[in-house]
Amino acid sequence: MATVEIVMGSDSDLPVVEKAINTLEEYGVPFEVHVYSAHRTPAEAKDFSVNARANGFGAIIALAGMAADLAGAIAANTTLPVIGIPIKASALEGIDALLSTVQMPAGIPVATVAINGGGNAALLAAQILAVEDAALAQKLDEKRAADAAAVLAELFGFTRKSADKTVRSTGAAVKRKEEMHRMAEANKAFAHYRW
Ligand code: RP5
Repeated sequence: MATVEIVMGSDSDLPVVEKAINTLEEYGVPFEVHVYSAHRTPAEAKDFSVNARANGFGAIIALAGMAADLAGAIAANTTLPVIGIPIKASALEGIDALLSTVQMPAGIPVATVAINGGGNAALLAAQILAVEDAALAQKLDEKRAADAAAVLAELFGFTRKSADKTVRSTGAAVKRKEEMHRMAEANKAFAHYRW
């Protein structure tokens, strides 16, 4: 599997990097982490980007706050997919970085996630690698299904087992129309998910 690069503009961005690391570790995706700045160390940032594909990277996550040029500067020097995370690091609460990261000129795309969106950036990187990796794709599918099932269980207040039992006894025991409707909806929803 290709490696995901996580590059941050400053070590003050580490709390968001940790969110990305946790997600990549959860899916067993190999990664490396570096600090390169578009403004403070532009030569190193360029050198990394130019050689990233040859060095075995498959996707790059770039985090920066304030006048956040990092993701764009990296994207300018590689055709690997670059995912930008705008960081909340100034009085402008991350809106500055969001606009800097998302507003790329035509021809140099950066896939921008939410302000401080470390988890989603890592998931997107994993999904990119999963295009060519069936085992990783299966892990992603299973987690989606489990997450959806957990939401439904909470929403309807019971697990699949109790839902089955309740639905079996519906005819005799449950009289109230609202309750019937609620269970029918729950059963329909549960039918889509395996767990
Ligand atoms: C950006 O400026 C960094 O990515 C960081 O989010 C922000 C502040 O950096 P420090 O002054 O904390 O190093 O380049």
